[in-house]
Amino acid sequence: MSDQPLLEVKDLKVSFHTYAGQVQAVRGLSFSLSAGETLAVVGESGCGKSVSAKALMGLLSCPPCEIKPASQILYQGKNVLQFQEAEWSAFRGKECSMIFQDALAALNPTLAVGRQIEENLIVHHLASRSAARKKAVEMLALVGIPQPERRARQYPHQFSGGMRQRVMIAIALACDPKILIADEPTTALDVTIQAQIIDLIKALQGKLNTAVLLITHDLGVVADIAHRILVVYAGRIVEQGSRDEIFYSHRHPYTWSLLRSVPRLDLTQKEELVSIEGTPPDLIDPPAGCPFAGRCRWCMEICREEEPPEVQFSPGHSCRCWLHHPDAPDWQTPFQRGDGVLC
Ligand SMILES: Nc1ncnc2c1ncn2[C@@H]1O[C@H](COP(=O)(O)OP(=O)(O)OP(=O)(O)O)[C@@H](O)[C@H]1O
Ligand code: SF4
Ligand SMILES: [Mg+2]
Repeated sequence: MSDQPLLEVKDLKVSFHTYAGQVQAVRGLSFSLSAGETLAVVGESGCGKSVSAKALMGLLSCPPCEIKPASQILYQGKNVLQFQEAEWSAFRGKECSMIFQDALAALNPTLAVGRQIEENLIVHHLASRSAARKKAVEMLALVGIPQPERRARQYPHQFSGGMRQRVMIAIALACDPKILIADEPTTALDVTIQAQIIDLIKALQGKLNTAVLLITHDLGVVADIAHRILVVYAGRIVEQGSRDEIFYSHRHPYTWSLLRSVPRLDLTQKEELVSIEGTPPDLIDPPAGCPFAGRCRWCMEICREEEPPEVQFSPGHSCRCWLHHPDAPDWQTPFQRGDGVLC
């Protein structure tokens, strides 16, 4: 893994103009991604995961969407938000690829899957037709599709859900992109197939040194693959850290609640699964203070009034919660408190 970030997202703010008002879907997201790294973005439905991913790929329609002017998405130092359409076309698929939850909807139903891989290579001028045909079969074999030569001639509906997801990964990785964005790649699959797809992404990432941005609502999915985790709530990062920091020394009540809501194979003492009560705030009129205040059992007066500052616990591990302020009352919590440095 390289220390030099491949991608740097700085203060990304995305809104949608609707009849009801301006939906502030992403409210100041900043993070970086290095070559060979797997960064997981985890949060409940509607917290801005897909909108952020689409912003990275230039897939948002503006209007109704608006990316605020101070936002920056630097790919190898260049702000992709200033790309013209031709630059986006060169970037998508070749530098950065994306796989989606619903492979059937994402694949072209009228083209054989091998042909879909070939087209990707040809569009980016990376191979002749005959070389692309050979590479398509190699890619299908790489993602574990048996009898790849025969399967290359088949259409998406002739594949099972898990196999279709493998095909999508083959298409996404055919041009050897430096970044793979996987938006809920396993949500539609059953648990065993889910684990196989995650193992496949992990193996390919190790082999090809691709940086992976893995988006999911389920912390359980990323336990075995993520190097770092961003916990996102209501369009903001509320905690970030290494995989071990998030799983074993998390500091934010929302991270703790998320962890309690997923099955954990690594725990010896089995705890009862608990869903998070309440709903996220309205993003048309987000609260002035902590966005989690309405659902947090440790909520204090200040939480409703002022947004908590970022508190750093170690390089790379930080969270936004008033419980870590030196003046916070001495609550007993099931996660660690205090000793942070206010940023
Ligand atoms: N085209 C749109 N018009 C208005 N609001 C939108 C639009 N697209 C997304 N949003 C809003 O932006 C917010 C973030 O949506 P996003 O799709 O990023 O959520 P998500 O975190 O990916 O959720 P999920 O886990 O359900 O996929 C949501 O409140 C959503 O309603
Ligand atoms: S800032 Fe307050 S409301 Fe928000 S998570 Fe921390 S304790 Fe809970
Ligand atoms: Mg989504």
